Amino acid sequence: MSRDLVEHGLTWSWTRTRVARNMADRDTSTLVAAVGRKIVGFAMMHFGDDHAHLNLFAVKPAYQRGGVGAEMLRWLEQSASAAGLSAIHLEVRLNNVSARRFYRGAGFQDVAVLPRYYGGVESALWMARDIRVRTASQST
Ligand SMILES: CC(C)(COP(=O)(O)OP(=O)(O)OC[C@H]1O[C@@H](n2cnc3c(N)ncnc32)[C@H](O)[C@@H]1OP(=O)(O)O)[C@@H](O)C(=O)NCCC(=O)NCCS
Repeated sequence: MSRDLVEHGLTWSWTRTRVARNMADRDTSTLVAAVGRKIVGFAMMHFGDDHAHLNLFAVKPAYQRGGVGAEMLRWLEQSASAAGLSAIHLEVRLNNVSARRFYRGAGFQDVAVLPRYYGGVESALWMARDIRVRTASQST
């Protein structure tokens, strides 16, 4: 799914070995969404000291626009928030308009364009979402 949905057209960098290594990393959460026993979506997020970094995120085409992505993102946000982190960061391909709309709709904001971020050939948009819980006195 990572190769076909996230890295299509780029050199495959999230190989089985790299994914397996990250799954075994105790600072990384791997999440799958399933319908019955069939995996329809997955995500991989690294928990840093201050913020989490969403490395991989995809929903199978037949299940897109059905709320699976939003549900996975909610789970990841709650998880990062429970870990005391202040934000979630990610990079998305600059030309991936649907994913950018998805993240923007979920409250992510553009941080910067990273030229030639992917293999020196394609640019990324760095996005982030502040997940700090504010008390009533802080929000006034
Ligand atoms: C981006 C992606 C994860 C979204 O997952 P999803 O399950 O389809 O998203 P949801 O159904 O939860 O959508 C939630 C909202 O996001 C927005 N959105 C999602 N896909 C969109 C699209 N293709 N175009 C415009 N808005 C979109 C909509 O506002 C949508 O709400 P709505 O359907 O009520 O209008 C999915 O399209 C995907 O896997 N794409 C290929 C892989 C990819 O680009 N991953 C991100 C790499 S960083």
